[in-house]
Amino acid sequence: MSSSRLVMKFLSQQDMIAAGVTDMERCIDTMDEVFTLLGKGDYVMGGSTRNSHGQRIWFPKEPKFEGMPKGGPDQRFMSLPGYLGGRFKVCGNKWYGSNVNNPQKHGLPRSILTMTLNDAETASPLAVMEANILSGMRTGAVVGLSARYLAREDSETLGVIAAGPISKFSTSAIVKAVPSLKKVTVFDINKEASRIFCEEMGEQLNIDVTIVNRFEDAVIGQDIITSAISGDHTPLFKDEWLKEGSLLTLPGRANVEKNYLKEAYVVPDGWEMQKTYKIEGLMLPEDERTIPHIQLHSLVDSGEIRESDINDLGKIAAGLATIDKASDKRRYFISNGMILQDIGWAMVMYENAVEKGLGQDLVMWEQPYRV
Ligand SMILES: NC(=O)c1ccc[n+]([C@@H]2O[C@H](COP(=O)([O-])OP(=O)(O)OC[C@H]3O[C@@H](n4cnc5c(N)ncnc54)[C@H](O)[C@@H]3O)[C@@H](O)[C@H]2O)c1
Repeated sequence: MSSSRLVMKFLSQQDMIAAGVTDMERCIDTMDEVFTLLGKGDYVMGGSTRNSHGQRIWFPKEPKFEGMPKGGPDQRFMSLPGYLGGRFKVCGNKWYGSNVNNPQKHGLPRSILTMTLNDAETASPLAVMEANILSGMRTGAVVGLSARYLAREDSETLGVIAAGPISKFSTSAIVKAVPSLKKVTVFDINKEASRIFCEEMGEQLNIDVTIVNRFEDAVIGQDIITSAISGDHTPLFKDEWLKEGSLLTLPGRANVEKNYLKEAYVVPDGWEMQKTYKIEGLMLPEDERTIPHIQLHSLVDSGEIRESDINDLGKIAAGLATIDKASDKRRYFISNGMILQDIGWAMVMYENAVEKGLGQDLVMWEQPYRV
């Protein structure tokens, strides 16, 4: 008879680093596998469409009770559940909170994340892990993957808007994915953040990094542009600023012009998830409604963009759609992040931790309590 003893692993941030969480090349390759599974359909995410990004706690803008958090941009708690197939065949959930004032007020990162993996058959927890680096890495790696599939092969310049952690992960990934890249230009409203970005990225990636004082100077004429602003501002990337053949790859919020959307290759991370965002967003009261990429949905609804022309990164990774990499047509990649990415990278970390004997074993029970 098999043992009913239940033991799971706890992996601290140090254990995650020892397990290889910062290995960007492997993370990009893992994201390639994850997006191939997404394209083939070998996954299930939460919610009734099986494609929900996750479930969010929507704190009211004006709480009526003492101590209840106040809702606002980048001010949230969220749970993202899912199942990833292929060689992974595992369920996972990422649980995080975000407070945009954390760095200044509490000396903590803006968001704090934990990840749980469960055996997909028995539901037994396999591991609970610190997930800040894991989540940042998978976000950056997907930006790198978008560059691998979408950027022109002669791309030499990268413009970076916002110099925070997500932009650092994205920059590392793009530099790995596009060997022809020679120069990075960064803009952040916080000059100190730009200075640190410049110092760290220049040293880690051995690439020339320049700081600029105006948003558009990090956009105009760049071959690849990425943006990861936090807070309540949504920047507008003007059509005339984005050069022919350029890739605008966005893990963060942004607005673009209608003409750009109609002309560019539009590549979401997962189109079915983006559609679910709209369904769920419409259920919110009008003054709290946030639907990512609402302009894109409106153009699809009005028939100005054909839905059949939108191929997500899953389809492209699975070989079910291609884009002409040499084309002068501009490319627009939008990422809101999917739990499948976290599950894939977390599973690689769990396997590495088991192999290397890392982390603490937590005994949930020797024998389950029976009523
Ligand atoms: N797509 C995904 O999978 C994914 C995953 C994680 C985070 N994100 C998003 O990425 C964003 C950034 O995350 P982070 O952890 O790096 O945040 P952060 O708050 O640590 O850093 C953000 C940076 O943006 C800068 N900034 C703010 N407003 C700006 C403006 N108007 N112009 C230029 N710079 C500005 C800030 O000074 C800061 O340096 C968040 O909005 C988050 O929601 C996306």
